[in-house]
Order: sequence, then C-alpha cells, then structure tokens
Amino acid sequence: MKITVIGTGYVGLVTGTCLAEMGHEVLCLDLDERKIAILKDGGMPIHEPGLLDMVRRNVAADRLRFTTDVAESVEFGVVQFIAVGTPPDEDGSADLQYVLASARNIGRHMNEYKVIVDKSTVPVGTADKVRAAVRDELSSRGLDLEFSVVSNPEFLKEGAAVEDFMRPDRIVIGADDARATSVLRELYAQFTRNHDRIMVMDVRSAELTKYAANSMLATRISFMNELANLADKVGADIEEVRRGIGSDTRIGYDFLYAGCGYGGSCFPKDVQALIRTANESGLQLQVLQAVESANEAQKKVLLDKITARFGKDLSGRKFALWGLAFKPNTDDMRAASSRVLIEGLWQAGASVVAYDPVAMAEAQRIFGDDPRLTYAKTAAAALEGADALVIVTEWKEFRTPNFNLMKSSLKTPLVFDGRNLYNTSHMRERGIEYVAIGRR
Ligand code: UDX
Repeated sequence: MKITVIGTGYVGLVTGTCLAEMGHEVLCLDLDERKIAILKDGGMPIHEPGLLDMVRRNVAADRLRFTTDVAESVEFGVVQFIAVGTPPDEDGSADLQYVLASARNIGRHMNEYKVIVDKSTVPVGTADKVRAAVRDELSSRGLDLEFSVVSNPEFLKEGAAVEDFMRPDRIVIGADDARATSVLRELYAQFTRNHDRIMVMDVRSAELTKYAANSMLATRISFMNELANLADKVGADIEEVRRGIGSDTRIGYDFLYAGCGYGGSCFPKDVQALIRTANESGLQLQVLQAVESANEAQKKVLLDKITARFGKDLSGRKFALWGLAFKPNTDDMRAASSRVLIEGLWQAGASVVAYDPVAMAEAQRIFGDDPRLTYAKTAAAALEGADALVIVTEWKEFRTPNFNLMKSSLKTPLVFDGRNLYNTSHMRERGIEYVAIGRR
C-alpha cells in the first residue's frame, strides 16, 4: 500500500519506517529542509535505538523515501498519516496549527479518495476540525471528493518505539465509516497476524483513549511518588510497598516506581491537555490536577533532600549529576527532572558536573555554555572532587558502578538517588551515605 507520513519527528519517522519494514511503500514529508537533508544523506535527526538501521535498510530497498514537496506527498499515499507536533499552548491545551495546516495541504492537492489519519496526540474533536479544514479547501477548489478522517493514536515509548510499533499491545482505530476501517485493517494486517489486536471504535473514543492511557500511567507514578514521600516520613520502604501491592493482579507491578518525577514529551503535555479539554466542557478533573501538581513538586524533591543535608546556601559546592535525559535510551530532555534540579542547584549557588551517555549535546543546546554546568567524559570522571553524586536517570551503566572508586572520588561519600537504583543495606555496608526516594 502507498502511504504518506507527514512529519518526521519521533512518531512520524518511527511510523513511516516500520510501515516500510512491513512492505508498504512510504513517503515521508517534512517542511524542515534540514531534517529531510539529514535523512536523505543516511543520517538520523533523533536518537532512537534500532531506527537508523531500519531506515537505511528500507531506503536501500526503495520502500522509504523523504521529501519536502507537499503536492508530491499528497498525491503519493492513499493513506495520509498526520504525525506533526502538537506543542502545548500557553494555557496547556494542544496547539493544532500544524495538524490543521497539514489537513489544508491535503485538501488543496488531493484528487482522489484519501484516508487521513490523525497519528499525533490530539484533543477529542480534532478529527472533526481536520474534516472541516479538508472540506473547506476542496470546496474552494469547487470539488466534492470523498475522504475519511480516522484517529489512530500511537502508544510508543521513546527508546523502545520501534519495538512497540512492530509488536503492539493493541492498535486503536477510531473510524466512523467502513471504507476507512477496511483500508486500515489491511494496512496493519501484518502487525496482527497471530492475534487480532485491532480495536475499532468511534473516533472520539479513540481520541480519548490516548489521553486516558497516558493520564492513568501518570496517575500511578504521582500516587507512588506521594506514598514514597510519606514512606520517608514514617520510616517505611516504598520498594517493599510496591511489591506488596503489585502482587494484586488488579494493580500489577508495572509503572509503580517512585522517583524524582516523570518527564518527557507526553505525560506532562497530555495530562495538561486533558485537564484543559475537561475545563472547556465545564468539568474539573480533580484527580488529574493533583497528579500534575504532585509531579511538579516531585521534581524538586532531590533539591530539598540536598539542602536538608547541606543547608540552603550551596555556594562553592559542586555536584556530580548522572543522567540528563528524562529517561534512559533517549537524548530527549523535554520536561526532564534534571532541568529543574540544575536550575535549583544554580540558584542555591552550586555548580554541576554532568554525565549522560547520549544527552550531553542536548543539554548544551538547552543551557548554552554556562560555566556552572560542565560535562564529564565518563560517569566516573564526573565524581572527582564533587560534594556528592545525584542520580536523575536510570541508565543501565549507572546500576553497577565501581563503588570503591565512587567512595574515593567524592569529597563526601554521599549519593542522592532519584531513581532508587541501589540496595540500601549494601550502600550502608559500603560506607556510602545513601539518600533515595522513599527508601529506608
Ligand atoms: C509515554 C507512554 O509510555 C507511551 O505509551 C506514550 O505513547 C507516550 O508517553 P514516554 O514518554 O516515552 O512514553 O516514556 P515512559 O517510558 O512512559 O516514561 C515517562 C516518564 O515516567 C519518565 O520520566 C520515567 O522516568 C517516568 N516513570 C515511569 C516513573 O517515574 N516511574 C515509573 O514507574 C515509570
């Protein structure tokens, strides 16, 4: 099948490449000429494990191409995926200008039936706006062509996006007409050969499903973070509590890890957007409002623990920071806890020596050249002469460090761990003071 994917960000590039891998012919459009030039040169504008090889393989097989030409892209695919950004507006609602501009482009150039698929995470009701935008353009051309608008949200985790796309838990298709449903069933047939994981529902339910999934996951995290703070106060261990409740099959073990707050491009944005959508319908989502404010507070927990130990004035102190990305296996620092921590340490007068396996260039882009933030070549090098180590991202390589070296390199053998990586009693035996999140 011929498919156009509009937008070559995380979602668009993964979608286009994985569909090509399954044998479809895919044309990816982006208006950013720099991005398209990188991709045409065999490069990769983002860090996503396994993606570069897959792109190269499919480009070589002539199933995957890139363009900046809108007319060509509309003509190409019978299915047109819209996978452009929906950044939050100032009030937290999703900004639809890129989605609607893509829809207008389709209306401006299409000459036959198209299935237009909203892949970006968009508020309930967006499919109707997309439909209206396409129809407007068609009628200004004096045309009355048939087309369908479908919601097909993605549930990809950064760092595991290729795997998630190739082996989905479910494929949600929100469609109000049978023609579009059968096109998408055919499109995804290869992905669901063994189990039928396709769920067809009405468009609005599909749009809401995406927000509901992310909001539920964010709720679990904020809930556990609050319990961890309580565990700190009452002398309980949140890890034991997690095991204790996770064994209940209704609860399950996943996504119950307390830490220094969730970040990334999805949870903070989607929780806010759902709150906004509800407000617009005259409804207050009280639980989600608390999820959001608890998370904002949680991003400051490490700083609170540091100032509780060293005092509010940290001038002259230097902290080693392990991890900048909002989670492992990505260089993405959007809404990352590390950003709040770095700003907080600076305000208190401290400086930071950071190490992250892939996100240091991204940090440099965000913070510029500031003498209060320097970068170490290795995790171990960051420790030398630092007052303490602070861990923000649970990269694998941080799980089994050389603890003797850690102890001798730090000025004070002290670790603030925002991801609960180590066994508390082992740390005590090693003679390292260990301050984690909700651990005894
Ligand atoms: C998320 C959803 O998982 C995905 O389905 C959706 O499509 C997009 O949003 P992603 O943003 O890539 O994916 O990251 P995820 O792995 O879900 O982690 C989000 C944040 O939650 C990270 O900052 C992580 O550290 C934090 N987290 C996760 C916790 O603090 N505790 C947990 O138990 C799990």
